[in-house]
Amino acid sequence: MGPIQAQIVDELGYDPDDGRRALDELDVVPVGAIVAARDGARPVAVARLTSGRLVVVDDVCPHDGGRISDGYVDGDRLVCSRHGWALAVCNGRCVRAR
Ligand code: FES
Repeated sequence: MGPIQAQIVDELGYDPDDGRRALDELDVVPVGAIVAARDGARPVAVARLTSGRLVVVDDVCPHDGGRISDGYVDGDRLVCSRHGWALAVCNGRCVRAR
């Protein structure tokens, strides 16, 4: 039997030390992709919208704290995979909830 491996997670089950790369270490983010990264110590989601615009937002869904970087791009919106809220990145408002 090997040593016990422990993983620290937050209340939603996320690992706070999940190996995110710094913004200046990211490769190209293709259209339609979302990448988890960090801006200093702050977790962020970097996404390339369908329009080609690159956006960086806090990686915390305003609904209930899900990680936006686990979601997907829908046109010029980011959809959180946790409950399906679609977020308009231009103003941060929820524009649709499934
Ligand atoms: S936490 Fe994002 S939709 Fe609920």
